[in-house]
Amino acid sequence: MRTDPRTPKVGIVGSGLVGSTVAYTLLVRGVHCEIVLVDINRAKAEGDAMDLNHGIPLAAPLSIRAGDYPDLAGADLVIVAAGVAQKPGETRLQLLQRNATIMAEVTRQVVRHAPGCILLVVTNPVDVLSYVAYKCSGLPASRVIGSGTLLDTARLRFLLGQHFGVDPRSVHAYVIGEHGDSELVAWSLAHIAGVRLAELGPTWEQAVHDGALQRIFEEVRGAAYEIIRRKGATYYAVALAVARLVESILQDQRSVLTISTYVEEWQGIRDIYLGMPCVVGWSGVERMVDLPLAPDELEALRRSAELLRRAADEVEP
Ligand code: 2OP
Repeated sequence: MRTDPRTPKVGIVGSGLVGSTVAYTLLVRGVHCEIVLVDINRAKAEGDAMDLNHGIPLAAPLSIRAGDYPDLAGADLVIVAAGVAQKPGETRLQLLQRNATIMAEVTRQVVRHAPGCILLVVTNPVDVLSYVAYKCSGLPASRVIGSGTLLDTARLRFLLGQHFGVDPRSVHAYVIGEHGDSELVAWSLAHIAGVRLAELGPTWEQAVHDGALQRIFEEVRGAAYEIIRRKGATYYAVALAVARLVESILQDQRSVLTISTYVEEWQGIRDIYLGMPCVVGWSGVERMVDLPLAPDELEALRRSAELLRRAADEVEP
C-alpha cells in the first residue's frame, strides 16, 4: 500500500521515439508524477521537455524537465528506453549484444543515483535486457520489470475484439513468453465475460476451423515487423502499455499485467525473465499468477524460456 503523499518521481532514460512518447502519454493521461528525461543527446531531452511543458496548460499539471543521471536521485520509478532500435527485417534478439552493453551501463548509473527505484525496462530484446538489468543492478527481482508481452496482449485483445465483435477490454486473453518470435497465446485460458473462448460453441469452432485464430496470432507476433516496415518504428501502443504499467505502480493498483518478470523456478523454467501475468503495484511485482496452462502451452513456454536462456548465456554485459 502506498502511504507516501509526495508526488512520485519518474525518470525516463532514452528520450527517443519510445521514451518521449511515454512522457507524452503520461501527460495526456494525467498521471500524477514529476518526470525527468535523460538522454545521451541532452539537447534532444531538453527539446522534448520544452515541447511537453508547453502542453501542460492544455493537459494536466505536472513537472517535466531534462536532466542527467544525478537528477534521478530519489526517483521512484525509472523507465529505460535507451538503445538501438530494430531495423526493418531485424529480430529483437539480433539487437541483443549492442543493447546489453548500453543496458548494463545505464543500470549502473541509475542505481547509483536512485537505489530505491523500480526499474522498468522497455528496450529490446526486453526479456534478456531485463535479466541483464536485474543482474547488473543488484535490485530485488520484484523491482526490475520488463514491459514484456503487455503490448502483444493488447494487440491480441484488439484483434479478438474485432473478430468476435466485442470491446477488446472485455476480452481476457494473454500472450506469454518472449516478447518476440517464440511468444505464445494461452488459448486454453482465454475468455469473454467468463465464457472460455473454447466454449463459445459454433463461433469458436468456426474461428479454429477457418484458421482465424492462427491468423490472429500470426498478426500479433508479426505486428512490430509490419509497422517497422511501413513507418520505421513502433511507439504509440508501446507507450500506452508503459503508461498503463506506470499507473498500476504509482497508484498501487495491483493490476494483473503481462510483464517480463524473473522466474526463479516454475514448472521447469529456471532463472530467466519472460512475459507472464503478474500483480503489479507500488512495491513492483507482487506476485506472478500461477497459470494452469494446457500441456502444449506449457511446452511452448518452456521452449520460449530455453531460447531466452541461451540468449542470456551468450550475452556479455
Ligand atoms: C513492438 O513490439 C518493437 O517491441 C516493439 O512494437
